[in-house]
Amino acid sequence: LEKELDIEAIRKLFKVTDKKIYLNHASTGPVTTRARKAIEELLDVYEYEVDITKEFLESIEGEVRHLAAELMGAHVDEVALVKNTSQGLIIPMNAMEWDEGSNVILRKGGFPANVCPWRQNLPDVEKRFIRADTCDEFMEACASKVDRSTKVIAVDWVDFLSGQRMDLKRLGDFCSEHGILLFVDGIQGLGVLRLTLWELAVDVFSCGAAKWLFGPQGIGIMYLKKQLLDRLKLKNTGWLSVAWKDFQHFEVIPPVKRSAARYEEGTRNLLGMVGMREHLKLFLEIGPDTVEKRIAKLREMIVTGLAEKGCTFLSPMDFEDGSGIVTFRHPKKQSEELYGELTARNIIVSIREDWIRVSPHFYNTEGEIEEFLTYV
Ligand SMILES: Cc1ncc(COP(=O)(O)O)c(C=O)c1O
Repeated sequence: LEKELDIEAIRKLFKVTDKKIYLNHASTGPVTTRARKAIEELLDVYEYEVDITKEFLESIEGEVRHLAAELMGAHVDEVALVKNTSQGLIIPMNAMEWDEGSNVILRKGGFPANVCPWRQNLPDVEKRFIRADTCDEFMEACASKVDRSTKVIAVDWVDFLSGQRMDLKRLGDFCSEHGILLFVDGIQGLGVLRLTLWELAVDVFSCGAAKWLFGPQGIGIMYLKKQLLDRLKLKNTGWLSVAWKDFQHFEVIPPVKRSAARYEEGTRNLLGMVGMREHLKLFLEIGPDTVEKRIAKLREMIVTGLAEKGCTFLSPMDFEDGSGIVTFRHPKKQSEELYGELTARNIIVSIREDWIRVSPHFYNTEGEIEEFLTYV
């Protein structure tokens, strides 16, 4: 049974609802009052107590890693806290062994966070691009693009512009059949779609908190599948990658941690962690299933309403192929003009490549969607 949400109570956590109709989560998520409180409490510690003890640090990071693991259906040892989505892709790509002649498969038109690092960090590795809008097209092209030297397929779970969703089960199965690693940029999916990584042959999954997880910016989650972790080199490891007994005796350096946390190299972004902690708790309280169904319902309202107005879509019509994103053009108005009108009414969406991108979250109301549709 779908859990009944007390939307009015939940909306009190989102102050942005007092001022705006915020439908722009594919861009930046609003920090909640709960996260603000947790960050302020930590600031009090920094201001009045100043010293952060090892126990305090470890209790916070341990809790956040556990919550992140629970949300993603992963083992806590497979989770590390990173700065952003990029870092969670860059660390494992640099820690892999790359033989001469290896290649990686990338998606043409994917967000640069999953393209630039491959080009810049691995200039000698061949990049094979696939131009595909749908998961079916992508997988079809993969079958002819991969060969014995293909090491990695790297995709965005959900496309930042169209909201098209990759089927991670099918793609993972394909990769494991061919002995290829699957790297996933998950930032447009986690917080919208349910995820159970232990059921999937995904090797790397990285997600910044800044969008659908409500932030704050500068903190994120990296998942490294256990089997991969055991094969990665020690790159981007540092003094906090080892399990010190205390912070007094540094003469004898203990071994590097066995878990993914080995890649957390130095002093942590604790303010970011406690903010994200509150948001992860919120998702687990409400339940990823309820979140997904609620977003699907609001999306359906948007798609139907826009279709009635004669809009054209870049996004798939069905939620099963898509996500929380609806990207469209108006039959009569230029996107720039419509964007200006909506913004003037405090209805917040994005304009990207001359398309309007709408991205509602579970706390948005049907009333807000109706109001948005009225002004399209
Ligand atoms: C698909 C995708 N990946 C990554 C990012 C951002 O990457 P990072 O968290 O490293 O800044 C965005 C943000 O716009 C995005 O849409």
